[in-house]
Amino acid sequence: MRSSLIPIGLASVMWTVVIGAGAALAADPFRPDGHFQMPDPAVLDPGMAEHLYARRVDEMAKSYALSGVPAARFYRSWRRANRAPYRSATHGDRYVNNYVNGTAAADYGRLAEGESMPVGSIIAKDAIAIDRQLRIFAGPLSVMEKMPEGYDPEARDWRYVLILPDGSIFADSSGTNAEGTGFCVACHQGAGDAADHLFLIPDPYRRTPRPQR
Ligand code: HEC
Repeated sequence: MRSSLIPIGLASVMWTVVIGAGAALAADPFRPDGHFQMPDPAVLDPGMAEHLYARRVDEMAKSYALSGVPAARFYRSWRRANRAPYRSATHGDRYVNNYVNGTAAADYGRLAEGESMPVGSIIAKDAIAIDRQLRIFAGPLSVMEKMPEGYDPEARDWRYVLILPDGSIFADSSGTNAEGTGFCVACHQGAGDAADHLFLIPDPYRRTPRPQR
């Protein structure tokens, strides 16, 4: 099951890009709680992942909201674009969910090749780590927001924000530790300009079919 869901080859290529681009990175920023490693992550079916996620998400969302970032306060009221939490090799090997705001909802996963998401689109990805004892650990909230043209052409005008589980901001391309979002940009560039730097959700978890390319 795992190999059909996670682009392992793609992920390792991308990590090479990231490490090459960001020699200053001492550790995996998706595990900023450094000492905590997940040596033995659980492999869960979608029903169990959903069940465990549902137990923690309210509490997690409250912590993210402490950041003061509007997306962190409101994302739970947005449309969730995946059917159940899925394991993301590139986002710290955690179970993640992608929520899209009203501006993004019609286009996320439906763009034709070369089209861009509308300005004001926001995608927020929350995350939990689960070990084999089914202990649940809150992960970070990763946010992409489409800014007006000219904001950052290299990043196709996406603003990236990483909010830690305690609600502090690890990096924000419009604020705190802006250069700390370089690894987000470097990896998302790998999705290609034609895809507007979006990787989208693995097929089994998508609510809408992938557009023909
Ligand atoms: C090593 C590669 C990699 C890095 C680094 C990375 N991402 Fe991603 N990101 C992905 C992949 C692959 C997906 C889609 C599949 C998934 O969720 O695993 C994704 C999906 C997303 C999505 C959902 C939108 C989409 O592309 O469909 C958001 C939001 C996001 N990432 C934010 C961030 C932020 C913020 C950072 C930096 C803090 C970041 N990402 C760093 C690879 C990466």
